[in-house]
Amino acid sequence: MLELTDDLRIGHPVIDADHQRLIEIINEFLEHSKTENNSQVLHETLKSLLAYGRDHFAREERIQRQCLYPHQQGHHHEHKSLLDQVREIARTYFIAKTKPLNQASVTEVNELLKAWLIGHVKKYDTSMRDWVAAPKEPAAAERLASPDLAALIIGPDPQSRTRLAELLTGLGAARVLQAADGFKGLELAFGDPVPDLVFCDLEMEPMDGAAVAGALRCSGKAYISRIPLLLLTASDDADAIQNAMNAGASGLYPKDFDPRNLGRLLNLAVKT
Ligand SMILES: [Fe+2]
Ligand SMILES: [Fe+2]
Repeated sequence: MLELTDDLRIGHPVIDADHQRLIEIINEFLEHSKTENNSQVLHETLKSLLAYGRDHFAREERIQRQCLYPHQQGHHHEHKSLLDQVREIARTYFIAKTKPLNQASVTEVNELLKAWLIGHVKKYDTSMRDWVAAPKEPAAAERLASPDLAALIIGPDPQSRTRLAELLTGLGAARVLQAADGFKGLELAFGDPVPDLVFCDLEMEPMDGAAVAGALRCSGKAYISRIPLLLLTASDDADAIQNAMNAGASGLYPKDFDPRNLGRLLNLAVKT
């Protein structure tokens, strides 16, 4: 029977509890595939995996956004690929029935479970460990590497802008510009000084964050279109998040993000 060993632990209680549930699904599969008929074991396992994957991936991606994990897009594609594989196997054996249910199908699902636990949890999930795990002791926040960094904050709520401006100044930002809407924000982005990075609310009227992203990326000036743009959202809607990323955002984070990784994220964003 498999266990959640230390090399698989992430250090975030919600994620570790979810991964424990994955191990239970695998153990149930290994146990039942010895005695029960293939059809029942595969049906139950695929059903459990699909429900588990949908819930767990949404939760894990929300925690990543909350902790400012910078590789959320690549990770999201890995999650999508795993769910697509589960759906494809279920379709093959239970809907299209293009392959017989036999020992080979049990082996195929066994391989998928191995790829999920070892290929995904061990390889990908552990790489977010030092972004999402609770620090053992309060770590000193990483300060901004550039001594003359100028940031631009675009958003209609003055309190949210002030909170972010204070965080940025505390990390060493030399200048923090503010704009209450997308039009004014773009005016500042094209002005002097050109900001090194832009924070922008996704939900704004009349020009939302995705439109600001589009305008920056299509500016025709390379030094403007390369500015890292971090969108802030109150939404958890997966489609809205994907649309904003497709419009050219460098990352998308909740408005109430955990600030402990902010300096580290911005140093990465400005460097790339
Ligand atoms: Fe996971
Ligand atoms: Fe994951």
